[in-house]
Amino acid sequence: MSKNLETWEKAKRDGVKMSMITAYDYPFARMADAAGLDAVLVGDSLGMMVAGEADTLGVSLEQMVYHTGIVARGVTRALLMADLPFGSFEESPAQAFNAAARLVKAGADIVKLEGGAPMVETIAYLSARAIPVCAHIGLTPQHVRQFGGFKRQGKTPEAAARLRADAIALADAGARMVLMEAIPAALAAEITQVVAVPTIGIGAGPDTDGQVLVLHDVLGLNAGRVPGFARAYLDGATLMQAALARFAEDVKGRAFPA
Ligand code: KIV
Repeated sequence: MSKNLETWEKAKRDGVKMSMITAYDYPFARMADAAGLDAVLVGDSLGMMVAGEADTLGVSLEQMVYHTGIVARGVTRALLMADLPFGSFEESPAQAFNAAARLVKAGADIVKLEGGAPMVETIAYLSARAIPVCAHIGLTPQHVRQFGGFKRQGKTPEAAARLRADAIALADAGARMVLMEAIPAALAAEITQVVAVPTIGIGAGPDTDGQVLVLHDVLGLNAGRVPGFARAYLDGATLMQAALARFAEDVKGRAFPA
């Protein structure tokens, strides 16, 4: 049962790769669950994929709670992870607890928060209060203003050493998983070796314990910038637009209703 975090820990020990996909609504959550994904992430990429925003910074806690609730209704088997959005957790561990508890009450099995060493105290605080946490490091999209864009991280030896130290500190503080985004494959492989908890990669090479992609990238539905590391398994936008065009034509041509 992928919902159980111990399943993930066992998978790491056994060398079994785990899969995760984002979802933001009930129909896609059901499909991901039925397709056998090990985890579904209600990501704050919601702002970009669903709301057409340029980044994730505008996503509110209320939106995350709402979408976590509707995704939770579609997921019975997979682990359900939900993002703490920008501005909902950084001030203090207590602020993070209040926000995380709302996501857990909406159905999340584990919450994810972005940030390295400055989040150690918060992760320890949440972990001690019954909230499992996944730490997200590397290209953390909530820091896009600070990074000056969606830029790969950990490229210099100093930056790589910092990320490695962050991953160890976050896992030691109680993080149950570490998600690494857009960092060198060799660094992600090394972090996966040194931390005891499962790692999940996105644009971080093949040697992490699991892989996550954004649903709209996988299904060819992303109307914005598709990262180079993503893989589309379907040209969903073309197929769906053609179906909608057929319906419009049928109405005009009086072929619908029959
Ligand atoms: O919000 C999101 O979709 C994410 C993934 C990119 C990992 O955090």
